[in-house]
Amino acid sequence: MTKFTVNGNPVHYKMDPETPLLWALRDASNLTGTKFGCGAGLCGACTVHIDGVPTRSCQVSIGAIEGTLVTTIEGLSDDRSDPVQQAWIAEQVPQCGYCQSGMIMATVALLKTNPNPTDADIDAAITNLCRCATYPRIRKAIHRAAA
Ligand code: FES
Repeated sequence: MTKFTVNGNPVHYKMDPETPLLWALRDASNLTGTKFGCGAGLCGACTVHIDGVPTRSCQVSIGAIEGTLVTTIEGLSDDRSDPVQQAWIAEQVPQCGYCQSGMIMATVALLKTNPNPTDADIDAAITNLCRCATYPRIRKAIHRAAA
């Protein structure tokens, strides 16, 4: 039994401890905002926070994170009121939208450590991939959220 907290709720997954966090979140907790893209730690679509640190959940087994605090896109707000979500809406960032929850989670983490990032800071910190190439709108939204 693997125990940690997801969005403030204790979870006790009766799954193989080697199960990637991504699949426990999606299949056992029905938190489908966290997306599968590459499964190899490259794209960032599966980004969540573990103890506040942005983490690619496809690369972390549930057995390795006992006692941690996991936050998913669903844990940011009940009503999209998080300032980063609001900036994403205002700048109409998504095209297909698939990668955007990971982008938002990476951005929330960036703004906690760097409240007013430059474009270079953004490019260095947000290594998530967007196949629609919405990067210019992502940068605008990050600046808006930081303002
Ligand atoms: Fe985890 Fe791509 S699905 S990094």
